[in-house]
Amino acid sequence: MKVLLINGSPNEAGCTFTALSEAARILEEEGIETEMFQLGKKPIRGCIGCGGCVNKGRCVFDDDAVNRAIEKAEGADGYIIGSPVYFASANGALIALLDRMFYAAGKCFVYKPAAAVVSARRAGTTASIDEINKYFSIRNMPVVSSKYWTMVHGNTPEEVKQDLEGMQIMRTLGRNMAWMLKCIEAGKKAGIDAPEAETPVKTNFIR
Ligand SMILES: Cc1cc2nc3c(=O)[nH]c(=O)nc-3n(C[C@H](O)[C@H](O)[C@H](O)COP(=O)(O)O)c2cc1C
Repeated sequence: MKVLLINGSPNEAGCTFTALSEAARILEEEGIETEMFQLGKKPIRGCIGCGGCVNKGRCVFDDDAVNRAIEKAEGADGYIIGSPVYFASANGALIALLDRMFYAAGKCFVYKPAAAVVSARRAGTTASIDEINKYFSIRNMPVVSSKYWTMVHGNTPEEVKQDLEGMQIMRTLGRNMAWMLKCIEAGKKAGIDAPEAETPVKTNFIR
């Protein structure tokens, strides 16, 4: 079993990375493979709503990180999506990535557990967690929680490490994610499959 961790921050070894790494460390201890996908500093364009991805599972634009992230997501059993808080929101590059990933390849996420992790100097954390959770809750994904909201505080990795409660929240998240994955796996072995989906109904409120 494998968990894909996405670091939305341009700082590849910054605060968000520090938080994600603590959760990843525990997942590995629990026997779950992990992989960190770094968005880095290169630009990621926003979704243009062209619909070119429909039934293809890939975005029409192949010149940035999105299709590479989709390939990684397809091979994962669970996800932890991390973001620095920018103006009380998840950072723009991450949102551009998630819009395009979930639109082009939403099917690969279905019924797989996921969690949001955010890092902030001070504020905007719960709004940013809510924002990321919305991708999960439109794709039948069980949301994994921790003993408190999944945030750390700091402007530098050293400050984040001093947020002892935040670091404990990350370790607890790692354990909870491992437990959820093991329960799903055990369920499959016992013949409990994912629920059967109904034929989709789409109502656009135009009459
Ligand atoms: C453009 C920008 C906007 C920010 N907005 C906020 C904010 O609204 N609230 C906050 O507490 N910190 C804010 N910060 C600080 C970062 O969220 C914080 O330093 C975070 O831990 C950085 O994570 P990173 O090292 O993974 O990039 C902002 C930083 C930047 C660059």
